Amino acid sequence: MEQDKYYYIETFGCQMNLNDSERLAGQLRTIGYQATEVAEQASLILLNTCCVRESAEKRIYGRIGDMKRHKLVNPNIIIGVVGCMAQQDKEKILKKFSHVNLVMGTHNIHQLVELVEKIVQNSEPVMAVWDEAERLAPDVPTVRQGNISAWVPITYGCNNFCTYCIVPYVRGRERSRPLADIIAEIKQLGTDGFKEITLLGQNVNSYGKDSKSNVDFADLLQAVDQIETIERIRYMTSHPRDMNNRVIDTIKQSKKVCQHFHLPIQSGSDAILEQMNRGYTTAYYRQLVDNIRQAVPNASLTTDLIVGFPGESEEYFIETLEFIKSIKYDAAYTFLYSERSGTPAAKYPNQVPLATKKARLNQLMAVQNQISLDINKQLVGHSVEVLVEGPSKSDENKLMGRTRTNKIVLWEKKGTEKIGELVNVNIATAQTWVLKGHLT
Ligand code: SAH
Ligand code: SF4
Ligand code: F3S
Repeated sequence: MEQDKYYYIETFGCQMNLNDSERLAGQLRTIGYQATEVAEQASLILLNTCCVRESAEKRIYGRIGDMKRHKLVNPNIIIGVVGCMAQQDKEKILKKFSHVNLVMGTHNIHQLVELVEKIVQNSEPVMAVWDEAERLAPDVPTVRQGNISAWVPITYGCNNFCTYCIVPYVRGRERSRPLADIIAEIKQLGTDGFKEITLLGQNVNSYGKDSKSNVDFADLLQAVDQIETIERIRYMTSHPRDMNNRVIDTIKQSKKVCQHFHLPIQSGSDAILEQMNRGYTTAYYRQLVDNIRQAVPNASLTTDLIVGFPGESEEYFIETLEFIKSIKYDAAYTFLYSERSGTPAAKYPNQVPLATKKARLNQLMAVQNQISLDINKQLVGHSVEVLVEGPSKSDENKLMGRTRTNKIVLWEKKGTEKIGELVNVNIATAQTWVLKGHLT
């Protein structure tokens, strides 16, 4: 009898990678593999990698090295490195790690089955890294991680070439999925009991621009809004430059699109924004935020910020601090600028010393944490609508869910709540990243 076959997938990076991993898992199921959470049990291990910052990359190189011990125990095991870092460092990975059998890039994800079969047949390492994507790779079966909330890609790749960013190089040019395919996938998710979907793309607002059909992101949101079984619609990421009043108006009119705007500003200095090739000014961005707050008054606003971009003087950094103080974000994801070879900014003069970057990051986080806390405290004593997602990771007596504004809420389990249902929670205490309360 053939031995049971198990796959173990470890995923790094963004939601796009998490969704790719679901599509890797889906393909492996079709050839008889089952999931395992225990790497020791696996007959196939995949590391789905990210190279957006050096810190992620270093950690992943460490993990690839760790995998060698599985090969020593089981020489027949297949070890694959896939995704963004594989796209970037294909030769280096195969050369450096003799225990790796498969290096597969971001444009080759749909080929997993044939590649695994090839390795099983002749046990030679295989490298499948196309430089460019096919116009649209075929859809493949998906095994979802959760059963309430699901990711649905709407565009692949990115055309923006922000000067610090590696993503356009490892994910290729922007390609929009046909509307009909997206709608069909979401309808199926609704039938399967999912309540919340997140539309994924590096720049969702440019949905449709690369195709002949006249459907744009606002049209897509309107179409998804009609799908009855879905309760909540989210999307990420939207580029401030391409967020427009038609999209804002669609969100205002919509029943299901959540009142949360994630608009990465990256820097509060116009000089730095220009060097980053972001395509907007702080004045434009402020106007956009005004329009959003006028149209959707209770919306939450979050952002991404990079500190220590080349040429960021103390003065420019202070502009960023002043900017976030005046906008008052609900939350911000803050990053140390990381030099990515091959990107224009890596060759810019005036790279900022690491110690300065770290000091600025701490300063920025301290300011933002206080703002987040102040905003969250305003919710104490109020009741918020929460989609029940499941047990809290840190405390099994508590359940976890999110508000429509994407705030994480924990509450003492009553026992009557069902996963996937909407409940009202009365907020008792507020922290920077979580709210805690009781069922009303
Ligand atoms: N397409 C999305 C997000 C891409 S990566 C967008 O444009 O918003 C997510 C975040 O990582 C970015 O918003 C940016 O803040 C950060 N990032 C990207 N490249 C980086 C780099 N080289 N160093 C530090 N942070 C980076
Ligand atoms: Fe990177 Fe800019 Fe594209 Fe976002 S929009 S993925 S930051 S190049
Ligand atoms: Fe990382 Fe690739 Fe996403 S580089 S952030 S996993 S698109």
